[in-house]
Amino acid sequence: MEPKDAVAATEALGALAEAIKDCRRCGLCEGRTQVVFGVGSATADLVFIGEGPGYHEDRLGEPFVGQAGKLLTELLAGIGLTRADVYIANVVKCRPPENRDPLPDEIEACSPHLMDQLAVIRPRVVCTLGRFATRLLADTELSITAVHGKAKDVTLAGLKTTVFPVFHPAAALYTPSNRKVLEEDFAKLRRLLTEDSAGEPQGGEGPSTGPADDEDAGADRVQGAAGGGVFRPDTHVERQLPLW
Ligand code: URA
Repeated sequence: MEPKDAVAATEALGALAEAIKDCRRCGLCEGRTQVVFGVGSATADLVFIGEGPGYHEDRLGEPFVGQAGKLLTELLAGIGLTRADVYIANVVKCRPPENRDPLPDEIEACSPHLMDQLAVIRPRVVCTLGRFATRLLADTELSITAVHGKAKDVTLAGLKTTVFPVFHPAAALYTPSNRKVLEEDFAKLRRLLTEDSAGEPQGGEGPSTGPADDEDAGADRVQGAAGGGVFRPDTHVERQLPLW
């Protein structure tokens, strides 16, 4: 693989951010303060994808700056990383009103922006935070409880990469026992990153170690929507290794 050019990648992300700052592809543009594009290293090996901006993110223009973001920063520190070492973005880039779940048409409208970001960054690992990012990027209808902490090789934006789902950090704010599950999954993530890039990603490690997460409530409804294909990004996602 070509070495990454940090200056070119930073400029390319800047151009993408500029191009979508007035995006009106879906109704979320009506209530937003600003588009929350993403933050971090344009050449990161590890990218985190959350669900969508909340109140604080909408105000500050940066993903994961509220309570869930504070926990994400702590989880990163626990594996020796800072926010500057990684890239952080969301499935939808504008705040859903009252922090409701993003709708299928909003995810469909916004996913090309995410694919453009991934095509520039070319991460080795995409860590999906919670069910929306996992369903979109791992192209699965399995619940986050079933797949967290397990790697899956996929092709996203024409790039072979590995998706590694974990619970959304907010799940640990509501259910403190989920923090331990997140810490265990971040330890696996660290191992996945330090493996030889030609080696096999970890997967199939057996059943979930933790309790069911609160954020998985309502999964049936979302699965129903996913069954209609609306969660698939424009860019084709194909399975490389059926690790779960
Ligand atoms: N939750 C998310 O999914 N994304 C954010 O940016 C903040 C909270």
